[in-house]
Amino acid sequence: MKLGGIPQNPVEWIGAKLGLLPQPLLDTHVAMLLARAVIEGTRLGVFDALAMGPLTAAEIAARCVSQPRATRKLLDALAGCEYLRFEAGRYALTPLARKWLLADAEESLRDKMLLLFREWDFIARTGDFVRTGKPLDIHDSMTREEWGIYQRGMRATVCTWAPEVARRTPVPKGAKDLLDVGGAHSLLSAAICRRHPGLRAVILDLPEAVEHAAPLLAQEEMGDRVVHRAGNALTDDLGTEAWDVVFVSNLVHHFDDATNRALAKRIARALRPGGIFVIQELYRPSSPDEAGQIGALLDLYFALTSESGTWSFAEMADWQREAGLAPKKPLKLLTAPGTGQQSAVKRR
Ligand SMILES: C[S@@+](CC[C@H](N)C(=O)[O-])C[C@H]1O[C@@H](n2cnc3c(N)ncnc32)[C@H](O)[C@@H]1O
Repeated sequence: MKLGGIPQNPVEWIGAKLGLLPQPLLDTHVAMLLARAVIEGTRLGVFDALAMGPLTAAEIAARCVSQPRATRKLLDALAGCEYLRFEAGRYALTPLARKWLLADAEESLRDKMLLLFREWDFIARTGDFVRTGKPLDIHDSMTREEWGIYQRGMRATVCTWAPEVARRTPVPKGAKDLLDVGGAHSLLSAAICRRHPGLRAVILDLPEAVEHAAPLLAQEEMGDRVVHRAGNALTDDLGTEAWDVVFVSNLVHHFDDATNRALAKRIARALRPGGIFVIQELYRPSSPDEAGQIGALLDLYFALTSESGTWSFAEMADWQREAGLAPKKPLKLLTAPGTGQQSAVKRR
């Protein structure tokens, strides 16, 4: 999947085929404005204001406590981008906005939009990063409020994948204990435990994360089957032969190669014989030619915001092999473009 110009008539189609359309303007000016319009529409509450039915621009501005003329400009922009419809003087939600952007939609991305408002500032630092090589290390610089936005935003991001993750994550027969390293909001652990009734999970995450993830875990109503443990996966004792599954999702892109190798060895020790170490990540194809738009851009983003970037399945399997585990064939998730699982088993 990729973002790109979609011709709207035969002339544009021919222009696109002949390479006459100014693609860089779409990729920059249009992409930036589109992104900002959707983010600000969400932050202002435009979509939620329309949840119960169509409204005029003045009515929306009154509900969002915004300036009427400027609000209309934003509403028109959102209509042009197919997030709203305009009919008989009123704006209404399109199915796209209703499915993804309402606060109480089942697979709502609203909290991710609020996180993106913060991520916008991170992305603006790309030039500094490339010049100096110094990443931002977001986990060390977030305020208390930002930790809350981060936890809720991540939950929203993985919401649509949770059913597939629960279905496809390999869990050994009779498994009882799962350690979810960096599991934060708990959505994935809870989904895996629901799928495997004999399984319970401990989520190890940084104290700042646990503070804001606790209400999200309570929402899952898993009782003592899924609990948080505040700590640091890089320094805490993970135990010895204590877990049947160690699940690490979207974490290793924060760590460099040496840190991930050391973590893999401690996880291998912590697994019971027959246990499984599952790394779930945005994978980096082995060559930039094969990375595609999403994989390549997110590799840059993670390098900017933490210490490393994305990893290839081969690199992740190598950490597991060096830790004495037997890597399995990688698995690509269908509902999470660019994300897959690299698992490895501890021999009995
Ligand atoms: C990108 S989020 C992934 C959350 C979740 N696993 C998912 O896939 O949606 C990374 C999580 O790792 C946590 N984290 C980062 N460094 C950590 C460390 N040293 N020990 C434990 N957790 C850590 C962060 O607090 C954050 O909650």
